[in-house]
Amino acid sequence: MNPNQVSIELYRSKAAGYDASAEFTMPLRRRTIALLQLQPGQTVLDVGAGTGLSYALLRDAVGETGQVLAFEQSPDMFALAHQRVQTARWANVWHANAPAETVQLPALADAVLFNYTHDICRTPEAVANILRQVKPGARVAMAGIKFFPWWTGPLNIVAWLKNRPYNAKAADLWEPWSHVAARCDPFHWSSTQWGMGYIASGIYRGNAP
Ligand SMILES: C[S@@+](CC[C@H](N)C(=O)[O-])C[C@H]1O[C@@H](n2cnc3c(N)ncnc32)[C@H](O)[C@@H]1O
Repeated sequence: MNPNQVSIELYRSKAAGYDASAEFTMPLRRRTIALLQLQPGQTVLDVGAGTGLSYALLRDAVGETGQVLAFEQSPDMFALAHQRVQTARWANVWHANAPAETVQLPALADAVLFNYTHDICRTPEAVANILRQVKPGARVAMAGIKFFPWWTGPLNIVAWLKNRPYNAKAADLWEPWSHVAARCDPFHWSSTQWGMGYIASGIYRGNAP
């Protein structure tokens, strides 16, 4: 199985319990979304949106005149996101059941959220395909798991064990933001969760080298 297939299989059994398991991450999700400094009327992209847990927060920030774009490759996670949109009758949420490597958005995004999307962030083709559909100057916000500093040694087994059930590329945790950061200027990150997590933001500088 390739990493996409591995990820789809991982989320097959996780989808039903995902919202309950992510409840404790809501404060960090709010902090990460706040870094986007969204304005009414903007178009925001929710990368690897899962069950759509960020949709309501993003919609609140861009208002009725703005648009939420999102994609998610797991059919099981996407089905729940779709149900959420239909139940709430949100007309300004566009989302697709598609992988980051090939998804085609209907509009360029003014801001991009990568909330716990490790596998996508560690796949250069996926990051490139996403960012080519984002306006230069767009705000980018990220959060996720990372390794503790190297000198904590064995503690990183904990980080890896925590990441493994959710990610096909679970071991690649030293600088999970690096492919996105390379396309931003400026870019800042800081530690969360006693060093085992990160929150980051930057300004996408466009495709020019
Ligand atoms: C930990 S969940 C986070 C979901 C959501 N961002 C949130 O904040 O709740 C990671 C999500 O990324 C999705 N994913 C992983 N690889 C992907 C890819 N290549 N393309 C699209 N989605 C992907 C998974 O299916 C999963 O729903």
